[in-house]
This record gives sequence, C-alpha cells and structure tokens, in this order.
Amino acid sequence: MAETITITDDRTGKTVTVPIEGGVFPSSAIRELDPSLFVYDPAYMSTAACRSDITYLDGANGVLRYRGYPIEQLADRSSFIEVAYLLLYGELPTPIQLEQWKYNVTHHTFIHENMRKRFVDGFHYDAHPMGVFVSAIAALGTFYEGAKEIEDEAQRHKQILRLIAKTPTIAAMSYRFSQGLPFNYPDNDLSYPANFLNMMWQVGKDYHVDPALERAMDILFILHADHEQNCGTTAMRVVGSSHADPYSAAAAAASALYGPLHGGANEAVVRMLDEIGSIENVPAFVDSVKRGEGRLMGFGHRVYKNYDPRATIIKKAAYDVFEVTGKNPLLDIALALEDVALSDSYFIDRKLYPNVDFYSGLIYQAMGFPVEMFTVLFAIPRTAGWLAHWQELLTDPDQKISRPRQWYTGPDERDYVALTDR
Ligand code: CMC
Repeated sequence: MAETITITDDRTGKTVTVPIEGGVFPSSAIRELDPSLFVYDPAYMSTAACRSDITYLDGANGVLRYRGYPIEQLADRSSFIEVAYLLLYGELPTPIQLEQWKYNVTHHTFIHENMRKRFVDGFHYDAHPMGVFVSAIAALGTFYEGAKEIEDEAQRHKQILRLIAKTPTIAAMSYRFSQGLPFNYPDNDLSYPANFLNMMWQVGKDYHVDPALERAMDILFILHADHEQNCGTTAMRVVGSSHADPYSAAAAAASALYGPLHGGANEAVVRMLDEIGSIENVPAFVDSVKRGEGRLMGFGHRVYKNYDPRATIIKKAAYDVFEVTGKNPLLDIALALEDVALSDSYFIDRKLYPNVDFYSGLIYQAMGFPVEMFTVLFAIPRTAGWLAHWQELLTDPDQKISRPRQWYTGPDERDYVALTDR
C-alpha cells in the first residue's frame, strides 16, 4: 500500500499526491492545489504544528514516554531533576553530568530580594498564588540582561537553569505571601522536592521533610514534567515563536495552564468532591453531569481515549502519601465517583476516563497544600517541559512566527453610518 495521500480539488480537477510519514502529511499539499485554500481546524484537532523529539503520547493505548523512556519506569526509578535534564538535553545524564546539573540548579535557587520585597509585596494580601506565580515568572526576566539574547546558546542555557531553579522558590513565596507568612530561603543541602517542601512548610526549626512525601512530590513532578503539545506548551511555542524572552513565554504558558480545563482541573476536582459531600450524593451528581449541567472534573482527555497512564501511577502514589498523612476523606467519594462513571454508558461511549488531575488534588490536599496552590504545583515541573519545547522550537529550521489563518464569516464591505443616523 502506497504511503501517500492524493487530494483532488473538484472545482478544478487538480490533483496533488504527497507522502504520509508517521501518520502526518504536509499541509503544503493544500497550498499546491490552491494557495488561497485553508484547512478549518478549530482547536487544532487534526493539526501537527511541529515535529518534536521530546514526548511520545499514544492516547489510544495509554502510552506516555519522555525521550523514549516509559513514564512508568521514570516514575519508579528516576528523579525529577534527572527527568528535567533528559527532557532538555535528550539523554539521561551520566553520573558526572547529573552532579554538575544538580549543583547548577541548586546554586540558582535564590531570587533577587527586590523580586520579593518590591514586586510580590505589591499584591493584595489574598492574591491567588497562581496569579502571583504567572506575574512573577514574567517579572523575573527583567532581572537578567541576557534574557533577550535567545540566539545565544549559552544565554539560553543560563535562562533555562534559572527558570528550573527558581520556580519552586517563586511558588513557595507565592504561597507564603498569600498566608502572610515570612519567606523561607532555599536550602542548598536539600534535594529539589525537599527544598520546595521546606520552603513551603518550615516555621522555625521544627519542620523535617518526610522522605515518603519528598518521594511522592518528586513522582508528581516527574509525571507533570511534559505532555507534548497541550494548551500551555502550545502557548509557550506560539509566544516563543515571536522571539520573546523565555520568561515572558513561560508566563504565557503558565497563564494557559491556569484555566480550569487545563492545569486548573485538579483544583476543580477537589471543589467538585467537596460539593458532592458524601457517597450517597454521587449518583445524583453523575446524573446532573449527564444532563449537561457541568462536567465531571478530572475525567476525559483530548488525547487519552483509553486511560491516562499518569492517573494509574498517581492513584498508587496517593496511597503511599495517605500512609503518612492519613486518608483524605474525599478519597471515598472519588472512588465511588470513578466506579459509577466507569460503568456508565455516557462515559464509556465518550471514552472518558480519570486523568492525571483526578487523584493529584487529593494527594496535594493530604500533604497540606491549599487548593489554590494545585496549579502552581503543576507549573513547577511543567516549566522543564515548556523550556525543552522552547529550545526545540528555536533550533528547528521549519519553524517561523506562529500565524494561523482564519475563515472570515463577518459582513461584506459596507459604508460607515454616521452616529446620528443609527
Ligand atoms: N464530564 C462530562 N462530559 C464530558 C467530560 C467530562 N469531564 N469531558 C468531555 N465530556 C463530553 C462532552 O460533553 C462531549 O459530549 P457530547 O459529544 O455529547 O457533546 C464529549 O464528552 C467530548 O467532549 P469534548 O469537550 O469535545 O472533548 P475535548 O477533547 O475537547 O475535551 C477536556 C477534553 C479535557 C477539556 C474535557 O474532557 C474536560 O473538560 N474534562 C474536564 C476537565 C479536566 O479534567 N481537565 C484536565 C485535563 S488533563 C490535564 C491537562 O492535560 O491539562
């Protein structure tokens, strides 16, 4: 069977045949037929906007791999800091490379004092930490002269290092500020996840990071590190394509992540479970979703139509966390909801399964994070993915500034009507 596709323009009879490679054919085929012809593809359902070597996702079979490594193996055996290196540089680091990378990240964790004192202190006392995070990431770029030198590889690496190192500091700072608590400085003797937990929770000297929670945090960071061309990563690529600095592009990506249909879903799941309140209310809630009165948050995915492999890993990690923290009382409602939904034809027919956010919120809540912090917890590791894509974009000769076309459906030309005649 020929690995080609032939498209005929019935208006002209003109035919174009192009190769299909990896399930993709070039849109140049359409332009060859007629340069004024465009494909209408809202939400990019059928459009591959780039080539990428970073993350492989097979939604039909529930497969997720970073640079070829299955997510299950990485979650079981790797660390987030190693995974960040893998995403950014394409290979697992050697022991020497890993030590150097850890040292570099650890020694860039501090933020300029003005960032905290002048910038963050300007927010209202109850500002949402994700709003603070988005703004702080954009503001961070103003502290580094080299931020705009995106053509310079050494500068790019420097900014990447800074963003990976400083996002946990900014995240913890956003939380402490929203609580009126004093800022905790990074502790360079701790691992990446332990340092973050320490900055979040230490009051005086009496906080020690529990190794089980440190590992759970690391696993959650690994699972959220990248997910190919989702809404946030696409925002990173679109803004990055204009050659904006990586801080501005990452702030745009974080803004996209903030939405409840994307990274905001974990917050929405806990709010939904709270609203359901008890197991007895689950069937009535499911019925209301089926009537179109809202969505079952934490269910469904644009790409996974079988199961989300991250959800399976997270469900197991949840039990490890509950051993330390005690069971989250919302777990029973979540399990009942999952049971009902997975046996209901509405959800089966639409291939709606629990996604990464269905259980992550329960873990975060059990660990003491307020719901407002959930999307921030997603943004910390996803920064590594965003930057890997940003770097790939800038070195891809196929890429230009993003500029989709539109299907104009507005009025034809008409004459201006004076205000007095309207
Ligand atoms: N609850 C109830 N019905 C749903 C849900 C849901 N969570 N998700 C989709 N549907 C229905 C939808 O109403 C539609 O039904 P119909 O064909 O009768 O109109 C059908 O399923 C297809 O939905 P869609 O909106 O066309 O699907 P999509 O691929 O555009 O949306 C989604 C994907 C994730 C936005 C959506 O499933 C959703 O809103 N889920 C809830 C929010 C959520 O959990 N988001 C986190 C996604 S995973 C983390 C991340 O990557 O950001």
